[in-house]
Amino acid sequence: MKKWLLAAGLALIAPTLALAEGDAAKGKKKFIKCKACHQVGPAAKNTLGPHLNGILGRKAGSVEGYEYSEPMKASGIEWTQENLTKWISKVKVDGKKKPGSKIMVPGTKMLFPGVSDKQAANIVAYLMTLK
Ligand code: HEC
Repeated sequence: MKKWLLAAGLALIAPTLALAEGDAAKGKKKFIKCKACHQVGPAAKNTLGPHLNGILGRKAGSVEGYEYSEPMKASGIEWTQENLTKWISKVKVDGKKKPGSKIMVPGTKMLFPGVSDKQAANIVAYLMTLK
């Protein structure tokens, strides 16, 4: 009985664990898709989008000096690994794939169609290395 419970518990957390498997080196290369609007690194500035240094664990809409959209400021999102992944993924709604960013924050000014689940995991693994 106990063993069975343990197995059931593991099955439940498995999808969460799957999130951790991104490859940061691959994600760094794919970050080219974000670079048009987001800078990272010691000299990063806010450009079309806010810089993404230290994004993990940050509250959405909190980079000083960047003018976020109102819905973004009011979103209350915290940038966990899971939220970051959803933000840049394609999310299925009523059988159609939509940008995760638009689903999470309707009215956001980030115009990005989203990447495949695998690419999203890799990019987020890279984002998590940015201090
Ligand atoms: C066409 C420009 C553009 C591209 C490409 C783009 N973004 Fe954005 N991003 C934005 C803008 C603009 C915002 C601010 C959104 C708002 O205020 O509504 C934003 C916001 C964000 C935020 C929230 C930041 C915060 O401080 O709360 C994250 C995280 C993010 N983008 C990640 C990414 C990643 C990762 C990629 C690449 C996979 C990407 N973006 C591609 C324009 C872009």
